[in-house]
Amino acid sequence: MGDLSQESLPDLTGKVVIVTGGHTGLGFGTSIELAKHGARVYIASRSAAKFKSAERDITFECPEADVRFLALNLADLNSVREAAKCFATQETSLHLLVNNAGVMCLPYEETEEGFEMQIGVNFIGHFLLTKLLLPMLQMTAEKSVKGSVRIVNVSSDGHAKLAPEEGIIFSDMNMKDNFSVWARYGHSKLANVLHSKELAKRYPDILALSLHPGTVKTSTLTALRNLSAGPISSTPLYRLIKPIVELGAPGPRKGAANILFAAASPKLKLESDSGAYLLPIGKVSAPSKTGSDARMAEDLWEWTVKALISRGYE
Ligand SMILES: NC(=O)c1ccc[n+]([C@@H]2O[C@H](COP(=O)([O-])OP(=O)(O)OC[C@H]3O[C@@H](n4cnc5c(N)ncnc54)[C@H](OP(=O)(O)O)[C@@H]3O)[C@@H](O)[C@H]2O)c1
Repeated sequence: MGDLSQESLPDLTGKVVIVTGGHTGLGFGTSIELAKHGARVYIASRSAAKFKSAERDITFECPEADVRFLALNLADLNSVREAAKCFATQETSLHLLVNNAGVMCLPYEETEEGFEMQIGVNFIGHFLLTKLLLPMLQMTAEKSVKGSVRIVNVSSDGHAKLAPEEGIIFSDMNMKDNFSVWARYGHSKLANVLHSKELAKRYPDILALSLHPGTVKTSTLTALRNLSAGPISSTPLYRLIKPIVELGAPGPRKGAANILFAAASPKLKLESDSGAYLLPIGKVSAPSKTGSDARMAEDLWEWTVKALISRGYE
């Protein structure tokens, strides 16, 4: 690959990482490079078969890679809880959590616990996973080099372009009526930005980041179960626009560069960069006005904790 982030990726031997949705798309591009640099990579995925296929591809390129399966369905909070429990039976350290998995512009449907699918998978499932893993991340941070223990939330510039102007809609988090699938996607990605911001405030020993990976060709026009499937089914015109949107865009291996930079670049510092939003590659940038709103970040944290408690998840 030979781009900026690859060259700046340090040796990760001895590091334990989790990448959600790490078997495909940007998650795969991230997992394979982290594994090639020596990390033990847990690919958190709802499909053991897809993990196996990714594992084959990774070990074909890097026979010594240490990649492992962690069963996780972000649309089912019980599965999220089980994933965190299962991880804790296998490891005592966690150096990096990459919250990458995502869905985009799905027609309205709800998760097991009644959250709209995009906010449920992209944000709430990841919020619970992060919350349950935070004690281990914190312990790891206390015995690690400053700034090396990280949480990376993969957001999108859609947090600025697509989310409602007023930001998080606390009175109507599911946005069932009166909002487009695109607005719901932007809303969930705004929540990812605010999540990192609040993590940085509450956990000063952990470097928390959010980012836009760039426009990345992670799927083909005919693919049914990837990020593009939602926009194509909800917005038929998107099938025609997609090739234009993706013109010149990199594939998932090259496209993972900004995630990899956030995950491991020594150029990012705990004191100055925690809570930051990165544009490709590695550019600390201002998120949208609502994405910069500290009060909104705090309110979202509190709203989410309450919503989880009310469903039996602490
Ligand atoms: N590609 C872009 O241009 C672009 C631009 C901006 C932001 N992003 C963000 O980048 C991230 C990765 O996107 P991508 O382009 O790599 O998409 P992708 O190829 O469609 O990959 C999405 C991943 O999320 C997983 N996932 C979906 N629902 C899940 C659930 N309920 N539980 C667990 N995993 C689930 C998928 O697993 P399955 O295979 O089981 O469905 C898949 O591994 C997303 O957060 C997206 O919003 C992408």
